[in-house]
Amino acid sequence: VIKMSDLDLQGKKVLIREDLNVPLDDDGKITSTVRVDAAIPTIKLALEKGAAVLVMSHLGRPTEGQYEDKYSLAPAVEYIAEKLDAPVRLEKDYLDGVEAKAGEVIILENVRFNEGEKADDETLAKKLAALCDVFVMDAFGTAHRAQASTHGVAKFAPVAAAGPLLVNELDALGKALGKPERPVVAIVGGSKVSSKLAVLEAFSKIVDVLIVGGGISNTFVASAGHEVGNSLYEEDLIPEAQRLRATTEVIFATDVRTTKEGFSDWSHTSKTETKKVNEIQADEEIIDYGPESAAKAAEIIKSAKTVIWNGPCGVFEFDAFAKGTEVVARAIAESEAFSIAGGGDTLAAIDKWDLADKISYVSTGGGAFLEFVEGKELPAVKILEERAKA
Ligand code: 3PG
Repeated sequence: VIKMSDLDLQGKKVLIREDLNVPLDDDGKITSTVRVDAAIPTIKLALEKGAAVLVMSHLGRPTEGQYEDKYSLAPAVEYIAEKLDAPVRLEKDYLDGVEAKAGEVIILENVRFNEGEKADDETLAKKLAALCDVFVMDAFGTAHRAQASTHGVAKFAPVAAAGPLLVNELDALGKALGKPERPVVAIVGGSKVSSKLAVLEAFSKIVDVLIVGGGISNTFVASAGHEVGNSLYEEDLIPEAQRLRATTEVIFATDVRTTKEGFSDWSHTSKTETKKVNEIQADEEIIDYGPESAAKAAEIIKSAKTVIWNGPCGVFEFDAFAKGTEVVARAIAESEAFSIAGGGDTLAAIDKWDLADKISYVSTGGGAFLEFVEGKELPAVKILEERAKA
Protein backbone atom coordinates (compact mmCIF):
# COMPACT_ATOMS: atom_id res chain seq x y z
CA VAL A 1 0.00 0.00 0.00
CA ILE A 2 0.95 3.67 -0.33
CA LYS A 3 1.78 5.09 3.09
CA MET A 4 0.77 8.55 4.19
CA SER A 5 4.15 8.92 5.90
CA ASP A 6 5.90 8.67 2.49
CA LEU A 7 3.75 11.32 0.77
CA ASP A 8 4.43 15.01 0.23
CA LEU A 9 1.31 16.66 1.62
CA GLN A 10 2.42 20.31 1.43
CA GLY A 11 -0.62 22.44 0.58
CA LYS A 12 -2.74 19.35 -0.06
CA LYS A 13 -6.27 18.74 1.18
CA VAL A 14 -6.02 15.49 3.09
CA LEU A 15 -9.14 13.57 4.15
CA ILE A 16 -8.39 11.13 6.95
CA ARG A 17 -10.85 8.38 7.95
CA GLU A 18 -10.42 7.69 11.65
CA ASP A 19 -12.40 5.47 14.01
CA LEU A 20 -13.64 8.01 16.57
CA ASN A 21 -16.41 5.61 17.59
CA VAL A 22 -15.74 6.12 21.31
CA PRO A 23 -17.97 5.03 24.20
CA LEU A 24 -19.92 7.95 25.73
CA ASP A 25 -21.77 8.12 29.05
CA ASP A 26 -25.26 9.62 29.44
CA ASP A 27 -23.78 13.12 29.72
CA GLY A 28 -21.89 12.71 26.44
CA LYS A 29 -18.53 12.32 28.20
CA ILE A 30 -15.98 9.99 26.57
CA THR A 31 -15.41 6.99 28.86
CA SER A 32 -12.42 5.51 26.99
CA THR A 33 -10.17 7.77 24.94
CA VAL A 34 -8.03 4.96 23.47
CA ARG A 35 -9.37 5.47 19.95
CA VAL A 36 -9.12 9.27 19.85
CA ASP A 37 -5.67 9.15 21.43
CA ALA A 38 -4.54 6.72 18.73
CA ALA A 39 -5.80 9.05 15.97
CA ILE A 40 -4.02 12.18 17.19
CA PRO A 41 -0.45 11.35 16.02
CA THR A 42 -1.80 10.87 12.47
CA ILE A 43 -3.54 14.25 12.53
CA LYS A 44 -0.36 15.88 13.89
CA LEU A 45 1.78 14.26 11.20
CA ALA A 46 -0.53 15.55 8.45
CA LEU A 47 -0.32 19.05 9.95
CA GLU A 48 3.48 18.88 10.17
CA LYS A 49 3.53 17.90 6.52
CA GLY A 50 1.72 21.12 5.68
CA ALA A 51 -1.72 19.68 4.87
CA ALA A 52 -5.20 21.09 5.30
CA VAL A 53 -6.69 18.28 7.38
CA LEU A 54 -10.23 16.94 7.11
CA VAL A 55 -11.10 14.11 9.48
CA MET A 56 -14.16 11.88 9.16
CA SER A 57 -15.59 9.07 11.30
CA HIS A 58 -18.77 7.32 12.30
CA LEU A 59 -20.09 7.17 15.86
CA GLY A 60 -22.54 4.53 16.99
CA ARG A 61 -25.32 3.23 14.82
CA PRO A 62 -27.73 6.12 14.14
CA THR A 63 -30.70 5.84 11.80
CA GLU A 64 -29.10 6.60 8.47
CA GLY A 65 -29.92 9.85 6.73
CA GLN A 66 -30.87 11.86 9.81
CA TYR A 67 -29.00 13.99 12.30
CA GLU A 68 -29.27 13.07 15.98
CA ASP A 69 -27.49 14.98 18.75
CA LYS A 70 -26.46 11.93 20.71
CA TYR A 71 -24.50 10.59 17.77
CA SER A 72 -22.66 13.86 17.10
CA LEU A 73 -18.87 13.81 17.00
CA ALA A 74 -18.85 17.00 19.13
CA PRO A 75 -17.28 15.33 22.24
CA ALA A 76 -14.42 13.93 20.14
CA VAL A 77 -13.94 17.31 18.45
CA GLU A 78 -13.62 19.02 21.83
CA TYR A 79 -11.15 16.40 23.06
CA ILE A 80 -8.99 16.63 19.93
CA ALA A 81 -8.93 20.44 20.06
CA GLU A 82 -7.71 20.22 23.65
CA LYS A 83 -4.98 17.70 22.78
CA LEU A 84 -3.80 19.64 19.72
CA ASP A 85 -4.10 22.91 21.61
CA ALA A 86 -5.62 24.42 18.48
CA PRO A 87 -9.11 25.25 17.25
CA VAL A 88 -10.86 22.35 15.53
CA ARG A 89 -14.04 22.98 13.55
CA LEU A 90 -16.95 20.54 13.36
CA GLU A 91 -18.54 20.73 9.89
CA LYS A 92 -22.12 19.51 9.42
CA ASP A 93 -22.62 20.28 5.74
CA TYR A 94 -19.67 19.05 3.80
CA LEU A 95 -20.84 16.91 0.91
CA ASP A 96 -20.69 19.77 -1.60
CA GLY A 97 -17.22 20.92 -0.57
CA VAL A 98 -15.32 22.27 2.44
CA GLU A 99 -13.06 25.33 2.62
CA ALA A 100 -9.84 24.39 4.37
CA LYS A 101 -6.42 26.06 4.58
CA ALA A 102 -3.09 24.41 5.32
CA GLY A 103 -2.68 24.00 9.08
CA GLU A 104 -6.42 23.77 9.74
CA VAL A 105 -8.20 20.74 11.21
CA ILE A 106 -11.85 20.25 10.30
CA ILE A 107 -13.86 17.28 11.51
CA LEU A 108 -16.76 16.19 9.34
CA GLU A 109 -19.88 15.22 11.29
CA ASN A 110 -20.77 11.51 11.71
CA VAL A 111 -20.57 9.88 8.27
CA ARG A 112 -23.51 7.62 9.18
CA PHE A 113 -25.79 10.68 9.01
CA ASN A 114 -25.30 10.43 5.23
CA GLU A 115 -27.74 8.35 3.20
CA GLY A 116 -25.85 5.56 1.48
CA GLU A 117 -22.90 5.30 3.88
CA LYS A 118 -23.47 1.73 4.96
CA ALA A 119 -24.44 0.51 1.49
CA ASP A 120 -21.12 1.87 0.15
CA ASP A 121 -23.14 4.04 -2.24
CA GLU A 122 -21.08 5.19 -5.21
CA THR A 123 -22.55 8.69 -5.48
CA LEU A 124 -21.78 9.34 -1.81
CA ALA A 125 -18.30 7.83 -2.10
CA LYS A 126 -17.55 10.10 -5.09
CA LYS A 127 -18.69 13.18 -3.15
CA LEU A 128 -16.38 12.26 -0.26
CA ALA A 129 -13.52 11.59 -2.67
CA ALA A 130 -14.07 15.00 -4.31
CA LEU A 131 -13.36 16.73 -0.98
CA CYS A 132 -9.65 15.90 -1.06
CA ASP A 133 -6.38 15.55 -2.94
CA VAL A 134 -5.35 12.61 -0.80
CA PHE A 135 -7.53 10.13 1.11
CA VAL A 136 -5.92 8.46 4.12
CA MET A 137 -7.48 5.33 5.61
CA ASP A 138 -6.39 5.20 9.25
CA ALA A 139 -9.47 3.64 10.92
CA PHE A 140 -8.27 0.12 11.66
CA GLY A 141 -11.32 -0.35 13.91
CA THR A 142 -13.63 0.11 10.90
CA ALA A 143 -11.47 -1.54 8.25
CA HIS A 144 -13.74 -4.63 8.24
CA ARG A 145 -16.63 -2.49 6.95
CA ALA A 146 -17.00 -1.88 3.20
CA GLN A 147 -18.78 1.46 3.50
CA ALA A 148 -18.64 4.74 1.57
CA SER A 149 -16.23 6.42 4.01
CA THR A 150 -13.89 3.41 4.34
CA HIS A 151 -14.00 1.62 1.00
CA GLY A 152 -15.89 3.59 -1.68
CA VAL A 153 -13.98 6.82 -1.07
CA ALA A 154 -10.69 4.95 -1.48
CA LYS A 155 -11.80 3.82 -4.93
CA PHE A 156 -12.42 7.32 -6.23
CA ALA A 157 -9.99 9.62 -4.37
CA PRO A 158 -7.10 11.01 -6.48
CA VAL A 159 -4.66 9.22 -4.11
CA ALA A 160 -5.54 6.61 -1.47
CA ALA A 161 -3.02 5.87 1.28
CA ALA A 162 -2.75 4.03 4.60
CA GLY A 163 -2.30 6.14 7.72
CA PRO A 164 0.31 5.38 10.41
CA LEU A 165 -2.21 3.93 12.89
CA LEU A 166 -3.53 1.46 10.32
CA VAL A 167 0.05 0.54 9.34
CA ASN A 168 1.03 0.00 13.00
CA GLU A 169 -2.00 -2.16 13.69
CA LEU A 170 -1.36 -4.38 10.69
CA ASP A 171 2.34 -4.67 11.59
CA ALA A 172 1.61 -5.61 15.21
CA LEU A 173 -1.03 -8.17 14.28
CA GLY A 174 1.24 -9.57 11.57
CA LYS A 175 3.99 -9.98 14.17
CA ALA A 176 1.69 -11.84 16.60
CA LEU A 177 -0.01 -14.05 14.02
CA GLY A 178 2.41 -14.35 11.09
CA LYS A 179 5.66 -15.91 12.35
CA PRO A 180 5.31 -15.42 16.09
CA GLU A 181 7.97 -16.26 18.63
CA ARG A 182 6.92 -19.41 20.53
CA PRO A 183 5.35 -20.39 22.79
CA VAL A 184 2.27 -18.47 21.66
CA VAL A 185 -0.57 -18.17 24.17
CA ALA A 186 -4.01 -16.76 23.37
CA ILE A 187 -6.53 -15.77 26.01
CA VAL A 188 -10.09 -15.65 24.72
CA GLY A 189 -12.76 -14.60 27.16
CA GLY A 190 -16.23 -13.18 26.94
CA SER A 191 -19.69 -14.55 27.28
CA LYS A 192 -20.28 -16.89 24.37
CA VAL A 193 -18.48 -19.62 22.45
CA SER A 194 -20.88 -18.98 19.55
CA SER A 195 -19.73 -15.39 19.01
CA LYS A 196 -16.04 -16.36 19.21
CA LEU A 197 -16.14 -19.74 17.49
CA ALA A 198 -14.25 -18.62 14.38
CA VAL A 199 -11.62 -16.96 16.56
CA LEU A 200 -11.22 -20.05 18.75
CA GLU A 201 -10.82 -22.21 15.66
CA ALA A 202 -8.30 -19.85 14.09
CA PHE A 203 -6.28 -19.73 17.32
CA SER A 204 -6.38 -23.50 17.72
CA LYS A 205 -4.27 -23.70 14.55
CA ILE A 206 -1.73 -21.06 15.61
CA VAL A 207 -1.21 -21.14 19.35
CA ASP A 208 0.60 -23.50 21.71
CA VAL A 209 -1.89 -22.92 24.52
CA LEU A 210 -5.40 -21.52 24.37
CA ILE A 211 -6.77 -20.11 27.62
CA VAL A 212 -10.54 -19.54 27.69
CA GLY A 213 -12.36 -17.42 30.24
CA GLY A 214 -15.81 -16.07 31.08
CA GLY A 215 -18.91 -17.78 29.74
CA ILE A 216 -16.73 -19.49 27.13
CA SER A 217 -14.89 -21.31 29.93
CA ASN A 218 -18.24 -22.40 31.39
CA THR A 219 -19.09 -24.31 28.21
CA PHE A 220 -15.70 -26.05 28.46
CA VAL A 221 -16.34 -26.83 32.15
CA ALA A 222 -19.65 -28.40 31.11
CA SER A 223 -17.85 -30.29 28.32
CA ALA A 224 -15.73 -31.94 31.01
CA GLY A 225 -18.94 -33.28 32.58
CA HIS A 226 -19.39 -30.81 35.43
CA GLU A 227 -22.60 -29.26 36.70
CA VAL A 228 -22.57 -25.51 35.91
CA GLY A 229 -25.77 -24.57 37.78
CA ASN A 230 -27.26 -21.27 36.63
CA SER A 231 -24.15 -20.25 34.75
CA LEU A 232 -24.20 -18.80 31.26
CA TYR A 233 -23.12 -21.61 28.92
CA GLU A 234 -24.07 -23.10 25.55
CA GLU A 235 -25.06 -26.73 25.69
CA ASP A 236 -25.24 -27.09 21.91
CA LEU A 237 -21.59 -26.04 21.63
CA ILE A 238 -20.23 -28.71 23.96
CA PRO A 239 -19.22 -30.87 20.95
CA GLU A 240 -17.26 -27.89 19.56
CA ALA A 241 -15.54 -27.47 22.91
CA GLN A 242 -14.66 -31.16 22.94
CA ARG A 243 -13.34 -30.97 19.39
CA LEU A 244 -11.11 -28.00 20.24
CA ARG A 245 -9.80 -29.79 23.33
CA ALA A 246 -8.91 -32.85 21.25
CA THR A 247 -6.54 -30.90 18.99
CA THR A 248 -5.25 -28.05 21.15
CA GLU A 249 -4.16 -27.56 24.74
CA VAL A 250 -7.14 -25.61 26.09
CA ILE A 251 -7.00 -24.22 29.62
CA PHE A 252 -10.35 -23.49 31.28
CA ALA A 253 -11.44 -23.03 34.87
CA THR A 254 -10.65 -25.75 37.43
CA ASP A 255 -11.97 -23.58 40.24
CA VAL A 256 -14.43 -20.70 40.06
CA ARG A 257 -16.11 -17.89 41.95
CA THR A 258 -19.85 -18.27 42.10
CA THR A 259 -22.75 -16.15 43.28
CA LYS A 260 -26.35 -16.89 44.18
CA GLU A 261 -27.41 -13.27 43.64
CA GLY A 262 -29.57 -12.48 40.64
CA PHE A 263 -28.18 -10.28 37.87
CA SER A 264 -30.15 -7.21 39.03
CA ASP A 265 -28.54 -7.39 42.50
CA TRP A 266 -24.94 -7.61 41.30
CA SER A 267 -22.68 -4.96 42.81
CA HIS A 268 -19.02 -4.28 43.67
CA THR A 269 -19.64 -5.95 47.03
CA SER A 270 -21.69 -8.95 45.90
CA LYS A 271 -21.14 -12.09 47.95
CA THR A 272 -19.19 -14.86 46.21
CA GLU A 273 -17.97 -18.34 47.02
CA THR A 274 -14.83 -19.99 45.73
CA LYS A 275 -15.00 -23.64 44.80
CA LYS A 276 -13.69 -26.42 42.58
CA VAL A 277 -15.64 -27.03 39.39
CA ASN A 278 -16.93 -30.38 40.68
CA GLU A 279 -18.63 -28.66 43.63
CA ILE A 280 -20.92 -26.23 41.79
CA GLN A 281 -24.54 -26.38 42.98
CA ALA A 282 -27.66 -26.02 40.83
CA ASP A 283 -28.55 -22.63 42.39
CA GLU A 284 -25.11 -21.11 41.76
CA GLU A 285 -23.76 -19.07 38.87
CA ILE A 286 -20.11 -18.91 37.82
CA ILE A 287 -19.04 -15.26 37.56
CA ASP A 288 -15.24 -15.47 37.61
CA TYR A 289 -12.15 -17.68 37.49
CA GLY A 290 -11.13 -19.01 40.91
CA PRO A 291 -7.65 -18.23 42.33
CA GLU A 292 -6.12 -21.56 41.29
CA SER A 293 -7.26 -21.15 37.65
CA ALA A 294 -6.08 -17.54 37.53
CA ALA A 295 -2.66 -18.50 38.94
CA LYS A 296 -2.32 -21.32 36.41
CA ALA A 297 -3.19 -18.97 33.52
CA ALA A 298 -0.72 -16.39 34.86
CA GLU A 299 2.05 -18.98 35.01
CA ILE A 300 1.45 -20.03 31.39
CA ILE A 301 1.38 -16.39 30.28
CA LYS A 302 4.67 -15.70 32.07
CA SER A 303 6.52 -18.38 30.11
CA ALA A 304 5.07 -17.29 26.73
CA LYS A 305 6.98 -15.35 24.06
CA THR A 306 3.83 -14.09 22.31
CA VAL A 307 0.51 -13.35 24.03
CA ILE A 308 -2.75 -12.43 22.29
CA TRP A 309 -5.62 -11.32 24.52
CA ASN A 310 -9.29 -10.82 23.71
CA GLY A 311 -12.00 -10.93 26.34
CA PRO A 312 -12.27 -11.08 30.16
CA CYS A 313 -12.30 -14.11 32.50
CA GLY A 314 -15.28 -12.93 34.53
CA VAL A 315 -17.80 -10.13 35.01
CA PHE A 316 -14.95 -7.70 35.77
CA GLU A 317 -17.20 -4.62 35.64
CA PHE A 318 -18.04 -5.49 39.26
CA ASP A 319 -15.06 -5.55 41.65
CA ALA A 320 -16.44 -8.65 43.41
CA PHE A 321 -16.17 -10.60 40.14
CA ALA A 322 -12.99 -9.02 38.75
CA LYS A 323 -10.12 -10.85 40.47
CA GLY A 324 -9.60 -13.54 37.80
CA THR A 325 -9.46 -11.01 34.98
CA GLU A 326 -7.15 -8.78 37.06
CA VAL A 327 -4.64 -11.58 37.73
CA VAL A 328 -4.59 -12.51 34.03
CA ALA A 329 -4.34 -8.87 32.89
CA ARG A 330 -1.46 -8.17 35.28
CA ALA A 331 0.34 -11.33 34.15
CA ILE A 332 0.10 -10.14 30.54
CA ALA A 333 1.35 -6.69 31.54
CA GLU A 334 4.29 -8.14 33.50
CA SER A 335 5.26 -10.72 30.90
CA GLU A 336 8.35 -10.19 28.73
CA ALA A 337 6.41 -11.56 25.76
CA PHE A 338 5.28 -9.54 22.78
CA SER A 339 1.70 -8.92 23.89
CA ILE A 340 -1.24 -7.69 21.88
CA ALA A 341 -4.74 -7.00 23.18
CA GLY A 342 -7.92 -6.02 21.38
CA GLY A 343 -11.71 -5.77 21.71
CA GLY A 344 -14.02 -3.38 23.55
CA ASP A 345 -14.26 -5.29 26.86
CA THR A 346 -10.56 -5.95 26.83
CA LEU A 347 -9.79 -2.25 26.46
CA ALA A 348 -12.14 -1.49 29.35
CA ALA A 349 -10.28 -4.04 31.50
CA ILE A 350 -6.91 -2.55 30.52
CA ASP A 351 -8.26 0.88 31.48
CA LYS A 352 -9.64 -0.39 34.79
CA TRP A 353 -6.14 -1.38 35.98
CA ASP A 354 -4.30 1.24 33.93
CA LEU A 355 -2.11 -1.29 32.11
CA ALA A 356 -2.05 0.16 28.58
CA ASP A 357 1.62 1.20 28.79
CA LYS A 358 2.70 -2.29 29.81
CA ILE A 359 1.14 -4.13 26.89
CA SER A 360 3.23 -4.19 23.72
CA TYR A 361 0.33 -3.29 21.47
CA VAL A 362 -3.24 -2.30 22.34
CA SER A 363 -5.38 -2.56 19.23
CA THR A 364 -8.14 -0.03 18.56
CA GLY A 365 -10.12 -2.73 16.78
CA GLY A 366 -13.10 -4.62 18.16
CA GLY A 367 -14.82 -6.42 15.28
CA ALA A 368 -11.90 -5.61 12.97
CA PHE A 369 -9.43 -7.20 15.40
CA LEU A 370 -11.50 -10.39 15.54
CA GLU A 371 -11.98 -10.58 11.77
CA PHE A 372 -8.26 -10.10 11.22
CA VAL A 373 -7.48 -12.88 13.71
CA GLU A 374 -9.99 -15.11 11.90
CA GLY A 375 -7.93 -14.59 8.74
CA LYS A 376 -10.62 -12.60 6.94
CA GLU A 377 -9.70 -9.95 4.44
CA LEU A 378 -10.38 -6.35 5.56
CA PRO A 379 -12.12 -4.68 2.58
CA ALA A 380 -10.88 -1.19 3.43
CA VAL A 381 -7.30 -2.48 3.36
CA LYS A 382 -7.79 -4.55 0.23
CA ILE A 383 -8.91 -1.52 -1.78
CA LEU A 384 -5.73 0.33 -0.74
CA GLU A 385 -3.68 -2.61 -2.02
CA GLU A 386 -5.59 -2.60 -5.30
CA ARG A 387 -5.11 1.15 -5.73
CA ALA A 388 -1.38 0.81 -5.03
CA LYS A 389 -1.05 -1.83 -7.77
CA ALA A 390 -3.06 0.05 -10.40
C1 3PG B 1 -16.35 -0.85 16.25
O1 3PG B 1 -16.65 -0.24 17.28
O2 3PG B 1 -16.09 -2.07 16.23
C2 3PG B 1 -16.18 -0.07 14.98
O3 3PG B 1 -16.17 1.30 15.23
C3 3PG B 1 -17.22 -0.45 13.96
O4 3PG B 1 -18.50 -0.09 14.39
P1 3PG B 1 -19.78 -0.85 13.77
O5 3PG B 1 -19.74 -2.25 14.33
O6 3PG B 1 -20.99 -0.06 14.21
O7 3PG B 1 -19.61 -0.86 12.28
